[in-house]
Amino acid sequence: PLEKEKVEMEQDYTDNEPRQSEQAKWESDQMSSALFKFGPKDKQAQEEYELLLDDEIEFVQALQLPGDKPDEKVKVQPKERKLTSIEETQKSLPIYPFKKDLIKAINTYQVLIIIGETGSGKTTQIPQYLYEAGFADNDKIIGCTQPRRVAAMSVAARVAHEMGVKLGNEVGYAIRFEDCTSQRTRIKYMTDGTLHREFLSEPDLASYSVMIIDEAHERTLHTDILFGLVKDIARFRPDLKLLISSATLDAQKFSEFFDGALSFVIPGRRYPVDIFYSKAPEADYIDAAVVSILQIHATQPAGDILVFLTGQEEIETCNEMLLERVRRLGNKIGELLILPVYANLPSEMQSKIFMPTPQGARKVVLATNIAETSLTIDNIIYVIDPGFAKQNNFNSRTGMESLMVVPISKASANQRAGRAGRVAPGKCFRLYTAWAYQHELEDNTVPEIQRINLGNAVLTLKALGINDLVHFDFLDPPPHETLVLALEQLYALGALNHRGELTKLGRRMAEFPVDPMMAKMLIASEKYRCSEEISTIAAMLSVNGAIFYRPKDKIIHADAARKNFNVPGGDHLVLLNVYNQWMQSDFSTYWCYENFIQHKSMKRARDVKDQLVRLMQRVEMELVSGITESVNIRKAITAGYFYHIAKLSKGGSYKTAKHNQTVSIHPNSSMFQELPRWVLYHELVFTTKEFMRQITEVESKWLLEVAPHYYKSKELEDSTNKKMPKVAGRATMDGTN
Ligand code: CDP
Ligand code: MG
Repeated sequence: PLEKEKVEMEQDYTDNEPRQSEQAKWESDQMSSALFKFGPKDKQAQEEYELLLDDEIEFVQALQLPGDKPDEKVKVQPKERKLTSIEETQKSLPIYPFKKDLIKAINTYQVLIIIGETGSGKTTQIPQYLYEAGFADNDKIIGCTQPRRVAAMSVAARVAHEMGVKLGNEVGYAIRFEDCTSQRTRIKYMTDGTLHREFLSEPDLASYSVMIIDEAHERTLHTDILFGLVKDIARFRPDLKLLISSATLDAQKFSEFFDGALSFVIPGRRYPVDIFYSKAPEADYIDAAVVSILQIHATQPAGDILVFLTGQEEIETCNEMLLERVRRLGNKIGELLILPVYANLPSEMQSKIFMPTPQGARKVVLATNIAETSLTIDNIIYVIDPGFAKQNNFNSRTGMESLMVVPISKASANQRAGRAGRVAPGKCFRLYTAWAYQHELEDNTVPEIQRINLGNAVLTLKALGINDLVHFDFLDPPPHETLVLALEQLYALGALNHRGELTKLGRRMAEFPVDPMMAKMLIASEKYRCSEEISTIAAMLSVNGAIFYRPKDKIIHADAARKNFNVPGGDHLVLLNVYNQWMQSDFSTYWCYENFIQHKSMKRARDVKDQLVRLMQRVEMELVSGITESVNIRKAITAGYFYHIAKLSKGGSYKTAKHNQTVSIHPNSSMFQELPRWVLYHELVFTTKEFMRQITEVESKWLLEVAPHYYKSKELEDSTNKKMPKVAGRATMDGTN
């Protein structure tokens, strides 16, 4: 059979492309000969199975690739699945035997690096150990940062449950626009961004006795900046304990940064995970994921499935496709519980993820890479990894920031695979070829600080009085040009003066936990006498979950309902219109349902708006509203977002004003068929091409009014605002994501 496989393999690559034959040779060296066959052995059952699932994905197993086989040193008997008490569960965690040693080490050293496999209990247990050991006495707080909101909320909920207290009392959390803590809170989980901002009000972190910078390996922008800030504080607060906790073993770097701090390693417990690669590249990975889920479900022994997708939309699409297929299969397959996990997941859904799977059923968790290390879901035996994640990328040459789906790194791929081996030996199905893994994936993900816009971070640092950013103590410094660009942008927004010092406007802008452009828009709204409207628009833009509900089976109705909200001027005004109508309905749930509006997103927008209004009052802004003229509102938006301007060019596409980059109107925009000459966009999203999302029509002469130091009138020639004739055939919904 080996010979036959090889021949077949070579036949697959008969074309002359040198890389292809190189690939074939590589594959014949690296790959096991056997295709991984789903399905029962017996022939008749196999035929039935094939009828059941009309399409199939073929997987092959690689012999030996780096990271393929997690260590098999520790042999632990798989836990029997039964309901265990909280205490039993706590004692079963890998960290538990080290409780005493850990506390001793923390008492001895001021800074400690803690390394442990994901799921070993670092996040949920260490704060409780510290609490027991008296670190929260004298009203001090044990703080723990998380890179992700959902993780902060769900971990806090879990710990409150374990301690038998009400969430928000002894155990609480704080995330942007939401503070669920009280006077009584002794263990506080928060996002890294929230702690970054807390430095503004409490530069020495005096209320904390311990600060845990958790998930340090994620290397988010805020976590990276926190490293520098807490390191500095530790020098003049010898009583503050600092724990840097991380999942992977690049502890050396953290240790060196923190002046040779000791590493405390919690030995991992991982079962072997067999890794399978798809035999050929998959054109549509969501479809491939759905097919793989069903293949596993129909043929593999009990055990839950974890699928990594890139975002809420993908998860919803996958969910719907899966439901549809399951419905068609009817009772020919066992019960399948589908559970989505993503950043904006409503909290009542979050707890469901952790509920044990009922006997006889199988759980499928559809998650973003939040489940890679931040959240551990027990009983996962199968992982399906399409190999992509959403990433924010910033081009410092053009100043363009864009959200795009990119291939993950080898390190991520191995973290994902590892999720299958926590409770028993597992299987990981990669929806890409072994060749792609070996030759196309980077070893590690580039830290965020080296690839995103630093405007927000620089503004906060400046507000903390850190003027010399070039010499700030970075674990990995950002590229020089990115830093310079951030300074230039803040200068153009009026937040910094020509010496790079914070201006009065900059100080006010720093009060808002939002992007500097949004902060500027909020403050400018005072001048244009529309602060009420702008606070609504800002809130609606900040709800990054979808506002419009678009179920697959009611797309026509949903789109019609959406069109009803269209108003001249663009998407920002549409958002305002949706909010105002909802307000007029007395914030009715039913109104949302009737109009295909996501009620949860709207409720969140209302909360965000309330907070923004409070902050506006804090910086002594006069709250005004009631103007009927949309020009003022659009001018205020332009005062913040004058970087995000594009001009119509040939064929209905657009060019950005400063850098001449080609961009297009997103098909979901109310402006999709309007083609105004000048537009302002809120953000760029790269799918099949660069799409502008949330678009408003502007006049180029406004740019001279709001940003005279940035735009010269020459650049803005042709400031007429007439529209181009409609271009035929533009109504295709290409490139939606
Ligand atoms: O931080 P680390 O990855 O080391 O582990 P952890 O998040 O503290 O997880 C320890 C245990 O708590 C795991 O078995 C999780 O499944 C469980 N856990 C949970 O049941 N609910 C949560 N919201 C978070 C964790
Ligand atoms: Mg953790």
